[in-house]
Amino acid sequence: MKNIVLVGFMGTGKSAVGRRLSKMLNMTYVSTDDLIEAKEGCAITEIFAKSGEPHFRKVEKEVIKEVSGLENSVIAAGGGVVLDPENIATLKKNGVLFCLNAAPEVIYMRTKKYKHRPLLNGPDPVKKIKELLNVRQELYKKADHQIDTSEKSVTEIAREICSVVSEPRE
Ligand code: S3P
Repeated sequence: MKNIVLVGFMGTGKSAVGRRLSKMLNMTYVSTDDLIEAKEGCAITEIFAKSGEPHFRKVEKEVIKEVSGLENSVIAAGGGVVLDPENIATLKKNGVLFCLNAAPEVIYMRTKKYKHRPLLNGPDPVKKIKELLNVRQELYKKADHQIDTSEKSVTEIAREICSVVSEPRE
């Protein structure tokens, strides 16, 4: 089976769904954010603060190339991977891409208690979420499947993805 790649904005549930899905399907779970932190030896907030977003995106692109060579894996990708079209092409080679979506207010409620996302640590996170979503909306549509997560539980979303990947293909 191809890898299952979860893309989508921060706070749409990629990590939680990815973990659940990997257990349901007996696949390996990997997170590009975790691999970036391991490679750089520090947290994403520190990478942004010390080296800037362009450096983060460069490392992210290297990690995307590495994970695209994996097999039988559920890959939770960072919310910004879609900004580079080559990342999407790389991930599609050996993966089926599911984009998890949620309304800006839902994203805010889910992310506000955490401080590990540098892009949302400014004074007006709701405005920032809407701005980033505006820029990224078209890019997220490049995934093979779209799932609205706003009113669904992690288990419901994981089951939905399971049913899509186990559909017989023509
Ligand atoms: C980012 C999303 C984050 C992380 C980094 C940048 C983004 O991952 O890669 O903070 O640009 O949307 P999550 O989507 O897993 O929070």
